[in-house]
Parts: sequence; structure tokens; C-alpha cells
Amino acid sequence: MVEIKSAVIEKYSAAAREPKGLCCPSGYDLEELRKFIPEEVLGISYGCGAPAGMSEIRPGDSVLDIGSGGGIDAFDAARRVGESGRVIGVDMTDEMLEVARRNAPLVARNLGYSRNNIEFRKGEAEALPVESESIDIVISNCVINLTPNKERAFREIYRVLKEGGRFTISDIVADQPVPNYLLYDSEKWGECLSGALQIGDYLNRIKAAGFRAVHQLKFSPWKIIDGISFFSITLTGYKPAQNFDGFGLKFATLRGPFSRATDELGNEYLRGEPREIDAATLALLNMAPYRRYFVLGRRPEPLSPLDSRYLRIAPENKPCVWKGDYAILVSLFETGADDDNHTYRRGTPLEICSKTLEVLRANEYAPFFSIVNRASGQAAGREVICGPDGGCC
Ligand SMILES: C[S@@+](CC[C@H](N)C(=O)[O-])C[C@H]1O[C@@H](n2cnc3c(N)ncnc32)[C@H](O)[C@@H]1O
Repeated sequence: MVEIKSAVIEKYSAAAREPKGLCCPSGYDLEELRKFIPEEVLGISYGCGAPAGMSEIRPGDSVLDIGSGGGIDAFDAARRVGESGRVIGVDMTDEMLEVARRNAPLVARNLGYSRNNIEFRKGEAEALPVESESIDIVISNCVINLTPNKERAFREIYRVLKEGGRFTISDIVADQPVPNYLLYDSEKWGECLSGALQIGDYLNRIKAAGFRAVHQLKFSPWKIIDGISFFSITLTGYKPAQNFDGFGLKFATLRGPFSRATDELGNEYLRGEPREIDAATLALLNMAPYRRYFVLGRRPEPLSPLDSRYLRIAPENKPCVWKGDYAILVSLFETGADDDNHTYRRGTPLEICSKTLEVLRANEYAPFFSIVNRASGQAAGREVICGPDGGCC
């Protein structure tokens, strides 16, 4: 563990002194950021999902950026929280902290603030130098994969968040477990590869720390190494509020798009069929990311397929082709079944054909899935004849 940390510090000390092509391409609006962030900071940005969760930040928020590096995301967050909010960046590499600290007053001035509300602290993700329950939103861009003890890092995020607070983390994950020969390659740790967890493992650790309503905001394929697909993902999750007034609501009906689904507390739902729920489940389903997929009521409310609230995306009745695509259920549900007899398990890749790919790319399904392609080159699959009900995979 100590060796891994030293290798990471060495790598990022050098990367702070001189810009390096580390990590992956990002989607920053550099023209916009140049208006208030000095070039020196922009030149040493090493994120993988940028901008990491910026759309989730609100005026007045207390934001914590873990592994803040040269400060790019902390500075962008400072613009979004306004002068009434505050931003703390934490990093373990002195050279990165030096650049970020030197530029903080400049950024605050460029933003027109009368005081500097951006602070950088030296510390580790696994032992954050931050007070418990003091933060509205934790952001982190391409850092957790570099931490040897990810359970502790997620528990720390949970500790520092206020009740109802949230995290938005961009990171590199893999579709399969990363083998030992990559895991112990110190060069690849610094490049955000070896420390990358299999996505299911990553999600389990987030859940074990206590987070709920965990869902994907963004994903993009990155690199395939020795048959392992590494991809960048941006996830959000909530520290649930303890006291929730249920307003007498007792029944939930799944709207879809899944025909069957299991929530993060293990409750099963059939689309359109109401079921009674307990207080903990109501608090879960009332969280914004779940709410749009359920009808909550004081009485059972069945939904027929003719109801405009009923969500169904059926596959087209046509042949399909196997092209090497795998769907990984990521958001909200532990399991979900589509209308073509596939059951997806959170974090486990399932091979899908071209017809199912079209279904999962539809607006209602897309936010639930990361999709990777494992074929080397173009798969020359021939068309497969489907069954009378349209199903073929
Ligand atoms: C890939 S860079 C990303 C920096 C920044 N988030 C960005 O987007 O430019 C990783 C940063 O995380 C820091 N870091 C890595 N592991 C850490 C840990 N366990 N605790 C605190 N900082 C860590 C490194 O020093 C480095 O500055």
C-alpha cells in the first residue's frame, strides 16, 4: 500500500512540475474556464470524466474535491457555489497543492469575490482532514482508482457528507477484474489503470459505505488492454436523510421501463402492479433519481399498458446480429428485466445482440447502462433469426 502511494505521489509530483499526457481526454469548455482559471492550472488537469459532476453543484453549497490536483475542478466548483458557498480541495501531493494554493486567491479575485472561499488541504482520501457532516457535495475526478483502500475512501466520503448530501465521482473502472500482473505494475497505477476495479465491485463498495440511489451520469469507453475494457464513468449517490415524513404514502407501482426490477433494498416490483412498501423503502423511492420510475400513493394504483405513465420499450420484430456488445446495468436497481427476457444484474456484463442494443440505447433505458464492446475489430456476425415473439438473445 505504502509503495503504491509513493509511486502515485512520485508520478503526480512530476506531473505538477511539467504537464504530462496522463489519464484520458476530457470535455472541459476551456474557453470558458480560461476566463478565470490561470493557464498553469489548466495545463496540469488529469481528470477522466470532466467536468466531474459540475451540473450537480448549487449556489451556496459546501463542496469537497478529493484529489484536487492543480485545482481545476475546485476552481470551477467555486464559480458555481458563488461567494456564499465554499470549496475545499484535498490532495496528498505537495507539488499539486503548491500550484492549487498559489492560484486560489487569483481565481477568487477573477470571479469577483471579496474573499477567497477556496482552500486546499494536505491529506489522503482514506483519512480526510475534513469535519464530519459538513459537506453538501463531494466531487472527485480520477482519484479513487488510485487509492489502495477504496472501502475506506467511500466510508470517509459518507462521514463528511451532511444527511441528504451527495457525491459525484468520475473514475476509471473495468468490465472485468484486473489481474495481478497489471495490479502490481506501478507504472500503470499512476495511469489510473491497475487500481481500476471491476464496475460491480466498485458499486458494491459504494453501497456498503451506505450510499443509495447510486446512478450513472455519464460513461465513455476508454482503452482495451489485454482484453479488459477500461471505461470512464461518472456516478452520483446520496447519503440518505434519516427522518423522512412519508405523508401517509404506502404503495408503490413500477412504471418501467423494466418489466421487473429489484431496488437497492432488495424489494421486487412488477411493472404496473402496486405493492405495499415500508417506511425505509418509501424514503428510498422518494429520492429524486427513483421517483420518476414509480407511482407512490396512499392506495394501490395499478397501471395498464394504455396509461401514459406506463413505460415500455419493446424490441423490434426483426433479425439481430451479435457484434460483441455487453450491457452492464449500473443505475438504481440491483436487477432489471427488459421485454425480451434478459435479466440484467447490477455490475455484471451481459452479452447483447444488435436488436437489444437499440432498445438499451433508447432514452428511457440509456441512463441505466454502461455498454462495452469486447470484439477485436469489427465482428462479422451473420443475422440470427428471431423467435415469433421477437426474442433472439
Ligand atoms: C489523476 S490526478 C487528478 C487530479 C484532478 N482531480 C484533476 O482532475 O486534474 C489524481 C490526483 O489525486 C491525488 N491522489 C491520488 N491518490 C490520492 C489519495 N489516496 N489521497 C489524496 N490524493 C490522492 C494525486 O496526488 C493527484 O493529484
